[in-house]
Amino acid sequence: MQTVPQLPLRCWAEIDLAALERNLKLIRASLPSHIKYVAVVKADAYGHGLYQTVARLMHAGADLFAVANVTEAMAIRELGPGWPVLVLSPLLPEEDKYLGEYDITAAVSTADEVDRFEAAGRVTGKTIAVHLKIDTGMGRVGVWHEQAGELYAHMRSAPHVRLDGAFTHFSSADEDPAFTDEQRRRFLAALRRCPGLDFNRLLIHADNSAGLETAHGEQPFNAVRVGLLQFGILPHPNSMLARVHTEPVFSFHTRVGMVKRLPSGTGISYGRTCSLKRDSAVAILCAGYGDGIARACSNRSHVLIHGQRCPVLGRVTMDQTIVDVTDVSGVKCGDEAVLVGRQQGAEISIAEFSARSDSIPWETLCSVTKRVPRIYKTSLGL
Ligand SMILES: Cc1ncc(COP(=O)(O)O)c(C=O)c1O
Repeated sequence: MQTVPQLPLRCWAEIDLAALERNLKLIRASLPSHIKYVAVVKADAYGHGLYQTVARLMHAGADLFAVANVTEAMAIRELGPGWPVLVLSPLLPEEDKYLGEYDITAAVSTADEVDRFEAAGRVTGKTIAVHLKIDTGMGRVGVWHEQAGELYAHMRSAPHVRLDGAFTHFSSADEDPAFTDEQRRRFLAALRRCPGLDFNRLLIHADNSAGLETAHGEQPFNAVRVGLLQFGILPHPNSMLARVHTEPVFSFHTRVGMVKRLPSGTGISYGRTCSLKRDSAVAILCAGYGDGIARACSNRSHVLIHGQRCPVLGRVTMDQTIVDVTDVSGVKCGDEAVLVGRQQGAEISIAEFSARSDSIPWETLCSVTKRVPRIYKTSLGL
C-alpha cells in the first residue's frame, strides 16, 4: 500500500490548549471558591475538538461537562469515569437506555421524561441521575417555572430517578440585564416550590458566559456553565468580562495559492459583484466556504497578509477567496493569510470576522468544516 505523503496545510485552525487551561483558571479565580465549573463542550467543543479540549479541561480542573447529546456524552466517558456529564438537549426514547450504562446525567423537563427514565432505570437496575431544567423565559427546553413544583413532586415518586441538580438558561444575558434578573427571580421562586431540596448536595446553576456579568453570587447558586468565555471570546464587544483577561484559543489560517495582476474594470468572482477600481494585484487564497469562510463575507471581510489588512474582493467561492494585495509588497504563492487571529501585531478577532457575515462567534466556530485540520498547541505553560 502506498503511504500518504506529508502534505502542507492549505487551511487550518490552531487551537492553543495552554491558553484554554489558563482561561479556565482565570475564570475560576474570578468566582467565589465554592462555585463549581461546568464546562460546556457541545458541538465538538465549539469546533475546537472534543477529545483534546475535554482532556485539557479535565487536567485544568473542570468539575463537570455539559454536552448536547448522548453521542457527545459517550465520547467524554471514553476519556475518563470521574466527571459527571450532563446532556442539555432532550433525549430521544431510544437513547434512554444509555444513561445508566454510561453514567450520563439527563436534563428533565417533563413528566413523560421522568417516566421514561424511571422505566430505563428499573430495567437496568441503575439509578438515573438528572438535573431539573426550569424554563424561566428562554421558551426552549425546561418545565415552565410556574409548574416546576408539580414536576418535582412527580419526580419524587420515581425511585430510579435521582435529582442531582437544577438549572435554567438565560435568553438575553448579553443584552438585557433586567430580564436576566427576572429570570433569576423566577428560578429561585420555582425552587421554593420544590420542598425538601438539599442545596448542600444539589448543583444549582444558571450562568452562561454573559450571565457571569450580572451574577450576584447569591445562594443557592453554586455552579456556572461556561462555553464561549473559556475559549477566550467575550459574549459581546463591551463585555465587562474583559477584566478576566482570557485569551483566544482558536485562530484560523490559510495560504496564498497565486498572485496576479488584473486591469482596472475587471469583474471578480461569480456574479462579478466587484469591479476593480484600479489596476490591482490580487491574491487567490486556498480556502473558501468549503472551509468555513461564510459566503456572506463576500466583499466585506478582510484577511491579514504580511501583517496588513487585505479586503475580500467579490464572492467567496467553495475553495478559493480573492483578496486585494495591491498595497502589500512582495506577496507570493505560499504566504500565510490569517482569517482570524494575529499577524505581526495586527489582529482580526473572531467577533469582527463573524460580524462581517452577520454571524456570531458561536456559529462561526461551529462552521469551520471538517476539511480544516485542527493543529493543537499543547505546551503545558507551567
Ligand atoms: C443550556 C446552555 N448552557 C450554557 C451554554 C454556554 O453558553 P456560552 O457559550 O454563552 O457560555 C449554552 C450555550 O449555548 C447552553 O445552551
